[in-house]
Amino acid sequence: MDTNNDPSTRLYRQVDKFVQKIEKAINGQYSAIQCYAKLANMAPTKKEKAKILEIRSDEVRHYQRFTQLYIHLTGKQPSLKKPEECPNTYVEGLKYALEDEQNTVDFYLDIMEKSMDPYIKEVFRRAAADEQNHAVWFLYFLVTNKG
Ligand SMILES: [Fe+2]
Ligand SMILES: [Fe+2]
Repeated sequence: MDTNNDPSTRLYRQVDKFVQKIEKAINGQYSAIQCYAKLANMAPTKKEKAKILEIRSDEVRHYQRFTQLYIHLTGKQPSLKKPEECPNTYVEGLKYALEDEQNTVDFYLDIMEKSMDPYIKEVFRRAAADEQNHAVWFLYFLVTNKG
């Protein structure tokens, strides 16, 4: 018997791929949390700094939700990679964040579409909506700081 076509093997592989995507999402959040702390410290006004910290707390919430989901699905802790370095200047940091947020919207919607579980779908739908909102804020800061 060819085990590659065995339905349970196929299902196992799909679940495995899905779990890997969630782990990637967790690592993305982990990087964003470090990066936005750095970005908030470079913000030119108190108002902007506060907004970036608010965005950062959304990322912390996503990170916690995805981690709970991962533990629920696998029974183990996700493995965390060294966070990606984010740029050292404010404007470059904003560009980086804007691009990352936009890519993340697509990535979450993809996870949402591939999941059969209504709870998982809802978690990623809401997270994607948050990232969309973050992207608009970063675009606004970029336009007003480009000078
Ligand atoms: Fe996020
Ligand atoms: Fe975000």
